Order: sequence, then structure tokens, then C-alpha cells
Amino acid sequence: MLRSFLLLLCLGFAFCSTQQNYTVDDTSPDIHYSGPTFPCNTTTCPFEATGGLSNNSITLTNETITFLFTGTAVYASIELIGTCFITVDGDEIANLSVTLADAINGGELQNVSKSNMANGPHSLIIDPTTRGTVIGLDHLIYTAASGPPAKSHVGAIVGGVIGGVALTIGVLFVALWARRHRLIMRRNQRKNVILRGITSARPNPDYKAGVDDGKDLST
Ligand SMILES: *[C@@H]1O[C@H](CO)[C@@H](O)[C@H](O)[C@H]1NC(C)=O
Ligand SMILES: *[C@@H]1O[C@H](CO)[C@@H](O)[C@H](O)[C@H]1NC(C)=O
Ligand SMILES: *[C@@H]1O[C@H](CO)[C@@H](O)[C@H](O)[C@H]1NC(C)=O
Ligand SMILES: *[C@@H]1O[C@H](CO)[C@@H](O)[C@H](O)[C@H]1NC(C)=O
Ligand SMILES: *[C@@H]1O[C@H](CO)[C@@H](O)[C@H](O)[C@H]1NC(C)=O
Ligand SMILES: *[C@@H]1O[C@H](CO)[C@@H](O)[C@H](O)[C@H]1NC(C)=O
Repeated sequence: MLRSFLLLLCLGFAFCSTQQNYTVDDTSPDIHYSGPTFPCNTTTCPFEATGGLSNNSITLTNETITFLFTGTAVYASIELIGTCFITVDGDEIANLSVTLADAINGGELQNVSKSNMANGPHSLIIDPTTRGTVIGLDHLIYTAASGPPAKSHVGAIVGGVIGGVALTIGVLFVALWARRHRLIMRRNQRKNVILRGITSARPNPDYKAGVDDGKDLST
């Protein structure tokens, strides 16, 4: 009983609030590059430059990168020579600076993120702030409600309704289960009282054991 309730509750949550990560590679048409780009991949760049990157590719640019998404979190992995300012919905999430020397010595990916946002449309903007800056975008990840990304709101509404129904059923089950539990407890209590009464009323229960078939134990 309790298990079926938990299952239902999980189902309700699966419909209501499961979040999933979606990876957007640098070559995706969903990413808008406002300036010239250079696609660095296994055919256009030496292997050392692309090995270990998401999908073995990185897009280099010297101007603004814009990404619009609907969800609750966004993660960006970039390489940088120079300085850049990164915002989500206009609020700063990073102000990065990497010198050419650092880039040659380390060349590490910079990971920036913004999470725990209200579920809805957001804009990520990666903006170079000094001339000569080169930004390499490896990939982006955004978190959104699971299921196929809804093209219309119908999916979300139906999902919400089904989730709500599952949740209501779940609550109903808890109430029923608790009531049943209470009834069983009360019956057991009654039985205990009666049994205690019977044992104390019989100074020598062993004596009649042979004929006591329990018929007089009416509850
Ligand atoms: C999404 O990916 C980020 C970074 O890789 C991770 O911290 C987060 O827990 C993931 N979220 C989900 C719902 O998988
Ligand atoms: C990786 O690149 C291939 C070929 O360009 C593309 O078909 C595929 O969708 C890419 N994978 C991701 C996760 O973007
Ligand atoms: C590398 O990028 C070029 C230019 O966009 C493209 O023509 C080529 O197919 C890409 N190679 C791979 C392996 O994705
Ligand atoms: C970013 O940081 C630099 C110092 O590293 C500072 O001079 C600059 O004003 C900052 N940019 C913004 C927009 O806060
Ligand atoms: C960013 O994440 C990648 C792996 O996803 C890791 O190799 C790299 O060291 C991280 N960069 C920083 C500055 O922590
Ligand atoms: C980016 O590069 C192009 C061509 O190389 C150049 O015309 C443009 O001024 C550069 N933009 C910035 C912001 O440096």
C-alpha cells in the first residue's frame, strides 16, 4: 500500500518537476554569433586544439555570442584570450580575463554558470570587452523541464494537469492508508483488551486448553 503510494508520488513528480540537461554544441544554429566565426574542428584545426572538447569542436569569434533558452539553469564552457563580460538577463555572471601567456600555459576551459532561476525564457550573452579578444565557445548546457521541448504550451499544460491529478491521487492514497492504519490499530487495541480480559479471567488457562477452540473469542 505504502509502496504504491510512493510510486504514484514519484509519478506525480516526474510529471511536475523533473529537470533535464540539454547540451548545445558550438555549431548549433540556436547560438547566435554577431561577428565573424572560425569553426575549429578535426578537419580545420590540429587534433591538439580540439581533442577533449565537446564533439571535438570549438567556434572562435571576436564578437558577441547570444543564446536564448527556456529553463532554469545555464552552463557555458569557453576558452578565452583577452577579456569578456558574461550576463544572463542582463545580470553579470562572470567578468573573465585571460592573458595570452596564461592561455598558452594553461589553455583551460572556463566554466561559468547560472542556476536556480525561475523557469522561463532567458538570454545568455557573452560579450568581449577589449579589442583583440578571442572567445572560443565549446558548448552550452541548459536545464529545462524534461520531455520533448514543447513547441506549444499544450504539452506543458497537459503535463501539469496529469501531474496535478497524480498528486491528488497520491494525497488521497495517503489519507486512505492512514485511515486504514488507524482502523487496524484500533481493532488490535480492542483485541488486546479483550485478550487481556480473557487471560486475567482465567486463573488456569492450561486446564481448558484441550477444549478451548477460540470460539468464545468473538471480537
Ligand atoms: C546539469 O549539468 C550541470 C553541470 O554539468 C550539473 O551541475 C547539474 O547537476 C545538471 N543538472 C541535471 C538536472 O542533470
Ligand atoms: C556533433 O557533430 C555532428 C556532426 O557535425 C552533429 O551531427 C551532432 O549533432 C553533434 N552533436 C551534438 C551533441 O551537437
Ligand atoms: C569542420 O567545419 C567545416 C566548416 O564549417 C565543415 O565544412 C566540416 O564538415 C567540419 N568538419 C567536421 C568533422 O565536423
Ligand atoms: C571587469 O573586471 C575588470 C577588472 O578585472 C574591471 O576593470 C571592469 O570594470 C569589470 N567590468 C565590469 C563591467 O564590471
Ligand atoms: C571546466 O570544466 C572542464 C571539464 O568539464 C575542466 O577540464 C576544466 O578544468 C574546468 N575549468 C576550470 C577553470 O575549472
Ligand atoms: C572582429 O574581426 C573582424 C575581422 O577580423 C573585424 O573587422 C572586427 O572589427 C573585429 N571586431 C572586434 C570587436 O574586434
